[in-house]
Amino acid sequence: MTFTDDADARTADQLRAAGSLKWSQFPDRIGAFVAEADFGTAPAVSAALHAAVDAGRLGYQSPADVDRMAHAFAGFAEAHHGWTVPVDRVRPLPDVFTAFRAAIEQFTSPGAAVILPTPAYMPFLTLPGSLGRRVIEVPLVEVDGRMTHDLAGIGRALDDGGELLLLCNPHNPTGRVLDADELSGIAAVVDAHGGRVFADEIHAPLVYPGRAHLPYAALSPVTAGHAFTATSASKAWNIPGLKAAQLVLSNDADAERWATIGEEYEKGASTLGLIAAAAAYTDGRDWLAEAVHYLDGNRRLFAELVADRLPTVGFTPPEGTYLGWLDLRDVGLGDRPARAIPGVALTDGLACGAAGAGFARVTLATPRPVLRAIVDHLAATIA
Ligand SMILES: Cc1ncc(COP(=O)(O)O)c(C=O)c1O
Repeated sequence: MTFTDDADARTADQLRAAGSLKWSQFPDRIGAFVAEADFGTAPAVSAALHAAVDAGRLGYQSPADVDRMAHAFAGFAEAHHGWTVPVDRVRPLPDVFTAFRAAIEQFTSPGAAVILPTPAYMPFLTLPGSLGRRVIEVPLVEVDGRMTHDLAGIGRALDDGGELLLLCNPHNPTGRVLDADELSGIAAVVDAHGGRVFADEIHAPLVYPGRAHLPYAALSPVTAGHAFTATSASKAWNIPGLKAAQLVLSNDADAERWATIGEEYEKGASTLGLIAAAAAYTDGRDWLAEAVHYLDGNRRLFAELVADRLPTVGFTPPEGTYLGWLDLRDVGLGDRPARAIPGVALTDGLACGAAGAGFARVTLATPRPVLRAIVDHLAATIA
């Protein structure tokens, strides 16, 4: 069975019965809020997990598993992004959220500000406050129909006590994949103010034809010097529950510091997660290509359906990620339109920051029949 046949054959009832977060939190609605995909994972990942369970590999994280994961990620980064990463600079973490916490705790001072270009991945808005830091939201600006970072706004935020910029690329929720000029512009502003960048590249494997992911830390010695990069196989191979992300340390000072403080953060990475990540990055690449191909079809189909049936809704197909950012400001449903649409559970745009008022986020990593049903629900309310 091809990837497409397998994906298309999965029904909403089957997905609901399987019990993922996406399909169980709102049992009477189609799950389209959380960033989970409905396609399972690569056969190579499943096989590695089955073998590990059969071999009783359910103990603590071992240095050998960390090493295999680091080699696998370094090989993938080289092959996919042309990024040469020394294996000893790839460290395990349970998740990207923990990497963000580490960046805040280790690279910002109490009371300092974390700069969040918005709209942003929802939990990033609340974590800094719980760690005694402020958040400065800097809304993205639309330039020639594309959402871009506001360099002047970031500069002002750095002047106003901002010490760490969150740079999410590919971007959740807008789906933008930043080009070299945009990244260089950000690097110049941050460098001029002596700031740091937390580069969240969790969606890096999910980029569509016509665009390429450029790792921020790989851009120049300047970016390598101030970046703290986190990524994971969790989105592309749909294994977020396994808890194993990758931290990439791109300068000597961070590597030395991490060697003394990293253990507390690293130990949350699970053995099965490390095994799954190693399998994904090495033997899961063909499956990834098929998944990206299917998702490419989904973003195009969704754009066609929206243009055809929802002419008042703004939608630009994502350049990367399987997330869609719906501009519902002209449909008359107010600042929180997601709540007014029954039948489908979307993410409220305001949860992504003030800039998200009137928007909603939709997860497009779903079988195409379900994608059509999502549009049916939108059309039933909006038309
Ligand atoms: C941009 C972005 N960063 C981080 C996360 C969270 O990742 P993790 O589960 O590894 O903390 C997500 C999850 O959707 C995400 O989209």
